[in-house]
Amino acid sequence: MQFGYFDDQNREYVITQPDTPLPWINYLGAQDYFGLISNTAGGYSFYQDARLRRLTRYRYNNVPTDMGGRYIYLRDTESGEFWSPTWMPTRSELEDYTCRHGMGYTVIASTKADIHAEIRYFVPPGQTLEIWDMTVTNKSDRVRELSAFSCIEFCLWDALDDSSNFQRNLNIGEAEVEDGVIYHKTEYRERRNHFTYFACSEPILGFETQREAFLGPYRGWENPQVVENDQTSNSLQVGWSPVGVHHMRLSLAPGEKKRIIFVLGYHENPIDEKFFPPGTQTLNKNKVRPIIDKFLKPDAVDAAFSDLEEMWDEFLEVMQVDTANPHVNRMVNIWNAYQCMVTFNLSRSASYFESGIGRGMGFRDSNQDLLGFVQMVPDRARQRILDLAATQLESGGAYHQYQPLTKRGNDAVGSNFNDDPAWMVLSTAAYLKETADCSILDALVPYENKPGTETPLLEHLERCVQYTLDNIGPHGLPLIGRADWNDCLNLNTFSATPGESFQTTTNQDGKNAESTVIAALFIMAARELAHIKRYLKKEDEAAKLEKDADAMVCTIHKYGWDGDWFLRAYDHFSEKIGSKTCAEGKIFIESQGLCTMAGVDEEMAKKALEAVRQHLATEHGVVLLDPPYTSYHLQLGEISSYPPGYKENGSVFCHTNPWVMISEAILGYGEQALDYYLRICPSNREAISEIHRCEPYVYAQTIAGKASDHFGEAKNSWLTGTAAWNYVAITQWILGIRPDYAGLRIDPCIPPSWEGFEVTRRYRGATYHIQVSNPGGVSKGIRAINVDGKPVEDATLPVFNDGEIHQVEVVMG
Ligand code: BGC
Ligand code: NOJ
Repeated sequence: MQFGYFDDQNREYVITQPDTPLPWINYLGAQDYFGLISNTAGGYSFYQDARLRRLTRYRYNNVPTDMGGRYIYLRDTESGEFWSPTWMPTRSELEDYTCRHGMGYTVIASTKADIHAEIRYFVPPGQTLEIWDMTVTNKSDRVRELSAFSCIEFCLWDALDDSSNFQRNLNIGEAEVEDGVIYHKTEYRERRNHFTYFACSEPILGFETQREAFLGPYRGWENPQVVENDQTSNSLQVGWSPVGVHHMRLSLAPGEKKRIIFVLGYHENPIDEKFFPPGTQTLNKNKVRPIIDKFLKPDAVDAAFSDLEEMWDEFLEVMQVDTANPHVNRMVNIWNAYQCMVTFNLSRSASYFESGIGRGMGFRDSNQDLLGFVQMVPDRARQRILDLAATQLESGGAYHQYQPLTKRGNDAVGSNFNDDPAWMVLSTAAYLKETADCSILDALVPYENKPGTETPLLEHLERCVQYTLDNIGPHGLPLIGRADWNDCLNLNTFSATPGESFQTTTNQDGKNAESTVIAALFIMAARELAHIKRYLKKEDEAAKLEKDADAMVCTIHKYGWDGDWFLRAYDHFSEKIGSKTCAEGKIFIESQGLCTMAGVDEEMAKKALEAVRQHLATEHGVVLLDPPYTSYHLQLGEISSYPPGYKENGSVFCHTNPWVMISEAILGYGEQALDYYLRICPSNREAISEIHRCEPYVYAQTIAGKASDHFGEAKNSWLTGTAAWNYVAITQWILGIRPDYAGLRIDPCIPPSWEGFEVTRRYRGATYHIQVSNPGGVSKGIRAINVDGKPVEDATLPVFNDGEIHQVEVVMG
């Protein structure tokens, strides 16, 4: 069952009924100013940081779900009937409804009582504001008198404080209204120099800035008193809950259209120019007013929207494919790339499952997100690597998270997630393979943001690798610390206290529990760093790193192999985890994928992948482990806290599936790799939306596993490393268009039934138009490559950097 359809031509998903199984959302903004918007206009906006600079309020855990957003009410003056063209919050029956989620914009349109309204929401590139561009059309054959009300609820900046510190917050709300513009300026009188504004292109009849004045006592957003009575009170009192409401009247002749533009934005004034006239407490509007005036004009709005479209053309043009599978094409060309941008921007901070206050930018998360993003805007990837490196500790360890506004490591979560450092080597390698910009290695970066501690980035990477060598356990495998990639395998926590954090509580000395996942990551990181060193002509150092990697391979052979698959870990008592000797949790996915990717041993890898097919693969994807834990184990931690089939305890944890796809591709099983790809591919699951329930255009973190009653149900959509890794799996390993230090490498691994495919890839200053043919029906292997008509020996394409398009013909065989 579907709740909409893909419009690939326009790069949109079109939702055709408002009551989707869950709110199906989109993101507005690509840098600095962001918003989440659901298919019924729910959601909120923030500047840089969803916790510390929340502009509008949103209540998670609300009922009905997704109440609060960017709302408009239309009211028919004659009948007194009112409704929301976005369905929420009034939920009135609509004659028709569509929501088009596109690249950085959402358009919601509906008809009610012969009044058609369409609202396009977007953030102009480079601006710290959002536009609601509404067109109302009278489809009836008589003149219609209408009122329109806009409505937003302001957040008092710090979203956590806003939802908890009521004894203060109900006293501090302040707003100003001037020339129809509502300015939200809570705390501006003291230490803040920023404010939110909400403006509208129509002359207004009245406004509200107080929630209760708008709603009326004991009422909700679905029937505000002001809308019902068609009468605003121009409320401007201090405290309580600030809102922004404009009221305007429209008179529309039959067939007449009216366009009204709303601008909601964020602005910072210089500290010494906060007030104007000087000496007053009046907000200085001199700098912001021209911005507001500009974007209230249709021409500027149209131009900004074209800029947005062009920006996305540019991003997506980097890699376009034409294969035999429409889901592959759609995901690679549009939605997967788009999700990679969103995860890069927001890490795991703000979605409909991440409240924006819990987690900032994850260290391992951001490094992995970069793998799917780096080709789009390499400069931003560069900056991100440097920001992450600046939160590294001198020991080589890393703060597990940092706050995007301050770029400081988060003390509450701290460090000791022993996989973290390795990911930074992999992300830097990805940046180098894309750009060849070695200057990043010389960039001076501090540790823990402490001035005076700067060293070149290269040394940060060396410390990343050394960190694992400094933290080795009894079997010679890396110590796990608080957790490795699997945040819920908490082998040193031993928590018996309700509510205690599994990730930050430590009741053991941490000197025993070991991880084969970190071992595999170490091998990958050490070998990547060796490549980098070799590239820098530091042969000896490269050789030493390779020796360390080889030694770890031996250790895995000795202590990390269970006979038919790779072990997952050793617990505090040196008992095996992920072994056939275990009663539950006999086999885990992570070590099968990562040890294969690390090139530990081909024969072992073959067996391990066979075991994955046998024990972990399901129709809805590959589950994380099997069988799931049925009870809580003190020595395992959070993983055993989840009911079987959920989250880390045996769901299809989608992030890990591409590791298995890549592994299958490495071993040459193209059919199997694509099969796994399609099982979790959102577009391929659209037809079962009533089971999947999350958005069919983006990946979710989990799909309930076979042990769950809701087998196949997705949760935690949008912000997941699944986006980047699936992008890497399909583009670099299945289609096999893989950036490498020396250039773009061609190494497809496809189903034998594919006759070929085409790729256009922008890379290091040139465009490659690659046509792959598969006359012999193989999965892997290359017989010949021609570049611009001339045969080349190597599967790595020459770097041109000439701004030209180059024709590449690849014959598999
Ligand atoms: C989740 C993990 C997540 C961790 C972050 C856990 O509750 O299951 O997926 O990584 O929280 O703190
Ligand atoms: C989500 C977290 O953001 C990520 O860092 C972690 O690797 C996975 N959960 C698995 O626990």
